[in-house]
Amino acid sequence: MNFQDIILAKRYGRKLTNEQIRFFVDSVTDMSIPDYQISALLMAIVLNGMDDEETTSLALFMAESGKTVDLSAIPGKKVDKHSTGGVGDKCTPILLALVSSFDIPVAKLSGRGLGFTGGTVDKFESICGFHTEIPIDDFPGQIEKVGMVLSGQTPDLAPADKVLYALRDVTGTVDSIPLIASSIMSKKLAGGADAIVLNVTYGNGAFMKNKTDAIALAEKMIRIGHLSKRKVTCVLSPMNQPLGKAVGNILEMQEVVNTLKGFGTDDLLEICIRLAVEMILLSDKAAEHQPDSLRSLCEKKIRSGSAWKKFSQFIVAQGGQVDASGNPIFCDVPVEVEAMRSGRKGYVESISAEQVGRASVVLGAGRREQSDKIDYGAGIVFSKKVGDAVEFGDKICALFMGQSHPKDSSRVAEAIEILEAGIVISSEPVLSTDDEIVVMK
Ligand code: URA
Repeated sequence: MNFQDIILAKRYGRKLTNEQIRFFVDSVTDMSIPDYQISALLMAIVLNGMDDEETTSLALFMAESGKTVDLSAIPGKKVDKHSTGGVGDKCTPILLALVSSFDIPVAKLSGRGLGFTGGTVDKFESICGFHTEIPIDDFPGQIEKVGMVLSGQTPDLAPADKVLYALRDVTGTVDSIPLIASSIMSKKLAGGADAIVLNVTYGNGAFMKNKTDAIALAEKMIRIGHLSKRKVTCVLSPMNQPLGKAVGNILEMQEVVNTLKGFGTDDLLEICIRLAVEMILLSDKAAEHQPDSLRSLCEKKIRSGSAWKKFSQFIVAQGGQVDASGNPIFCDVPVEVEAMRSGRKGYVESISAEQVGRASVVLGAGRREQSDKIDYGAGIVFSKKVGDAVEFGDKICALFMGQSHPKDSSRVAEAIEILEAGIVISSEPVLSTDDEIVVMK
């Protein structure tokens, strides 16, 4: 097969055959075609799209390009969860404990931070001793012991996606619905779950900048699920301001603990409960509960402390240290180094999630280069959210750095500058925005 013919077919808007897509993925995996030809095809896909059948084939062949995880030794239906990314998105640790407190087995493969968005693996690694490299063979044993397990994604999971993702990042071909849908679904299909709940975020801190695009992406992933015989539910949620109060690894994990103890912010708790309900509905336990009762049952699991107890047991099971009350012990102490205050009386009109993400990376909470070491104590905690009234001089947010890292004034100044460009205070009360959560199946 000639690769140039495949590029030309897509350039002229033709549908690619299964064989052509397989040849494309195989050639990417064994690196037998040069990057410029792959990039040309990616651009043709961005411009001319792919239908559901093509996108599903791409997802399936990418899933098969490396190892696929076999979770069949874990009894019951396994439900996975994935978020398309966000700032302050600490749903996974909360959800794992919440869903697991219903005796549903949860096996999660998670990633590290990407760009200005945080990663679950980095967050858990802020706990002293916590292991994030759990061999797949050890999953059933740990599930039997504590009901949940979390591991970093292995490099041999969907390797074709890794090559394509790195190229897309530098060739202006990231934001294409078939490419994003096949990239996400390839990893989920390779991950071995029977059913998948996807949190599709939209807004300035997400890949999808508006709800219309988020709906199109969700529809595509649901259809890929249907064609590959996996149940997929998408929960669409806004990402125009950071989720909850904290951004940064230890700061977010502290917020996770507070949320599981019943002191979560409304936006964070709401999305976690909506995601948990959909995960339970896809599990074997769905038949044991009235669907309408699941929301209040989730609230009860938090109020009664069962979800928090699960979380603490899980930390210990993965080698993490906890104190006498079961609270995780972190590898550093976040220290407040600066506060950003309102320069006027008014209302918080907007807090750009993207700018906040960028500012937290500057403080050290994420990596600018892949080899960068993270400052686990770095980040930002908000005292005000969109819609709140502020007086002149009120604290909007506090900037933190880890105690073991020397205070770097130039980084703090740069972070403040980024935040100032991303936070708007207006004199008028803020009208409600189009921020509702939508579930699609
Ligand atoms: N997340 C992914 O895994 N892939 C994409 O293409 C975008 C977000």
